[in-house]
Amino acid sequence: MTDPTAAVRDRALSLASCELPAYLYDLGALRAHAAAVRGALPGRVELYYAAKANPEPEILAALGPYVDGYEVSSGGELAHVASAVPGRPLAFGGPGKTPDELAAALTQGVERFHVESGHELRVLAELARRLVPWRRVGVLPRVNLPTADGAPAGGSLTMGGRPTPFGMDPAEAREAVTALTDGTHPQLELRGIHAHLASGLEATDQLAVAGSIVSWAMGLGVPLAEVNVGGGMAVDYAAAERRFDWAAYGRGLARLAAAHPGLTLRTEPGRALSAYCGWYVTEVLDVKRSHGEEFAVVRGGTHHLRTPATKGHDQPCSVLRTDAWPHPWPRPAARSGRVTLAGQLCTPKDVLARSVPAPGLRAGDRVAFSLAGAYAWNISHHDFLMHPRPGFHFLEPGAG
Ligand SMILES: Cc1ncc(COP(=O)(O)O)c(C=O)c1O
Repeated sequence: MTDPTAAVRDRALSLASCELPAYLYDLGALRAHAAAVRGALPGRVELYYAAKANPEPEILAALGPYVDGYEVSSGGELAHVASAVPGRPLAFGGPGKTPDELAAALTQGVERFHVESGHELRVLAELARRLVPWRRVGVLPRVNLPTADGAPAGGSLTMGGRPTPFGMDPAEAREAVTALTDGTHPQLELRGIHAHLASGLEATDQLAVAGSIVSWAMGLGVPLAEVNVGGGMAVDYAAAERRFDWAAYGRGLARLAAAHPGLTLRTEPGRALSAYCGWYVTEVLDVKRSHGEEFAVVRGGTHHLRTPATKGHDQPCSVLRTDAWPHPWPRPAARSGRVTLAGQLCTPKDVLARSVPAPGLRAGDRVAFSLAGAYAWNISHHDFLMHPRPGFHFLEPGAG
């Protein structure tokens, strides 16, 4: 799914210049991918989608049949997801939850709170006592756990196993568990443990992390119904055809689940579910040489697709050549075989991909950047320089 799917390619070529750039999402491809992921996981493993990766309502809804619920990390995400996919189970995580956000989540009936600190636990307990005294509230303390061999290997964004603002150190998490089981907070129900230690891990590392989390949780010596082992499945932007090995991950989780009958395991990936369904499509505005290097300036840029700037990679892309050139002025074209694709911002950081093999690339050609379905538009600084916003197209199979 690196080259645009047929649906994306057709739409990318049929849009007028003034309708570009645009985000094109192939919802059929998203459903097929999500079905494959769900199929690779054992029945006893729950799959939540971390909405922060891409909270577009159409994406949330398309994932609906394949996920058991959604992880949200702010009051804004909570309200948005609850209205986009009403009635689905939600887990409310993230650091620095405000009392107002916690109150809204309580009154809305959120099923699970991933509690990030002792302070947050005490605030939640008091708000629950005042706002929903008739029901118990499900809690999973989030633990920042060192894995057996130190920090999680390979993760491009490490959130555990070292000092971070995320979750609780094991000793503090143990205190939270005690407070949840010794009658200190009678209205809060300890459902289990949550951890999200890193993003960008391959299946072997993910399984090692999951094993560490489960064995730490079991070592607490209190009955637990569930352990959430987090998200963070790798997406390889340098080898866009590669996929996280869901089959191996599923087999490993099946072994883990079999060793702990009665325990529900849960994962909450974001990126590895939605990244592959999105393309950011644009057109080349200008082609020029600078100090021996060839540049193509495209409509839009990293203010729409910040992913390559934040992660420091070249966004994978395909060139869609077009013959149409309706202008009276000459058409600029690349003279060499490799071109750096830059956006319209006045900063040297506005580079989407360097040294792309695109011999003869011309103004008016289109470029489709793939793996743009996660942490793309929603993490970008849209208003910088006040360029127009992209269009958004959610492509349904057979919709033409
Ligand atoms: C608590 C938590 N869960 C899940 C995720 C999803 O991670 P990814 O999109 O890498 O799968 C994140 C990402 O930051 C997170 O912080």
